[in-house]
Amino acid sequence: MNASSALPTVFSGAQPTGQLTLGNYLGALRTWVRMQQEYACIFCVVDLHALTVRQDPAQLRENIFELTALYLACGIDPERSIIFLQSHVPAHSELAWLLATFTQMGELERMTQFKDKSQQHHQNINAGLFTYPVLMAADTLLYQTHRVPVGEDQKQHLELTRDVAIRFNGLYGPVFRVPEPLIGTDGVARVKDLQEPTKKMSKSAASELARIMLLDDADAVVKKFKKAVTDTLGVIRYDEVNQPGVANLLNIWCAATGHSREEALAHFDHNQYGKLKMETAEAVNTVLQPIRSRFMELNNDRGQLKQLLRQGAEQARAQADRTMHQVWQALGLPTSRT
Ligand code: TRP
Repeated sequence: MNASSALPTVFSGAQPTGQLTLGNYLGALRTWVRMQQEYACIFCVVDLHALTVRQDPAQLRENIFELTALYLACGIDPERSIIFLQSHVPAHSELAWLLATFTQMGELERMTQFKDKSQQHHQNINAGLFTYPVLMAADTLLYQTHRVPVGEDQKQHLELTRDVAIRFNGLYGPVFRVPEPLIGTDGVARVKDLQEPTKKMSKSAASELARIMLLDDADAVVKKFKKAVTDTLGVIRYDEVNQPGVANLLNIWCAATGHSREEALAHFDHNQYGKLKMETAEAVNTVLQPIRSRFMELNNDRGQLKQLLRQGAEQARAQADRTMHQVWQALGLPTSRT
């Protein structure tokens, strides 16, 4: 359906490196689900990107299926959108090589994610970590993508994609559509760490209490919200600077219930933090419960997940091959394929 669709194309992906947090869901996945109405969406499990840091093979395999099941459990619909595994479509690696020859070392050296990751993984600063953004450029350019939903941390990579595409088109003619960022998460504020509420909620935070994982059970969610860090002021106001913990709880309650900030403040006026914590936990459980149960079903049927990824890869390959033909032709590479 995607290929002939008149809708503009959106491409996005996530790495299969462990479970998603509530922040990933409210900030990204939930928006992806909604975007399916307005766009022809392509959602990729970017396993090749995950290999830029050392992975345990059995764990990686498990993570790949779990992330696929989570996409579906959250509401990504394979009838509407393409869901596939990056390594199933070899064109990603092929185009990444070709695009690397149009990307300057200096451009990659400036990438803040590379600088951060090479500090984190100082014992394994491999060339893949360095060329990571080139593979990401290949991901989106292969599908003549119109829009790429990006968070703050991926903006610089999308900028690079655009620069490389414009450079290539300048030399060879309009081979690639230059993708635009799609910013906006339905006004949802970024979900913060429950223990250090000035930081974003991250799956790598030291404390388990800091983050809500999408598959946490209901009791764990309640426990984590009960232990969430607040302050000693004892009034429920929205003040990110002086009461970041309370502001975060209010934001999460709003995102989970669909209420506005004004409605939240009116609802919790003259209440204790305990009530804010409990109601936020309940609201989050209401959102996560159906995702958890759908996930359990889907994740138990590996045969079905494999079949689905196979279909997705076929659809993706058909689109990617069209772009590869144009690229080979532009560069003067005779194709051996028909
Ligand atoms: N780099 C992205 C991240 O870590 C994942 C990603 C890979 C991606 N390829 C992409 C996101 C293409 C959007 C489009 O979050």
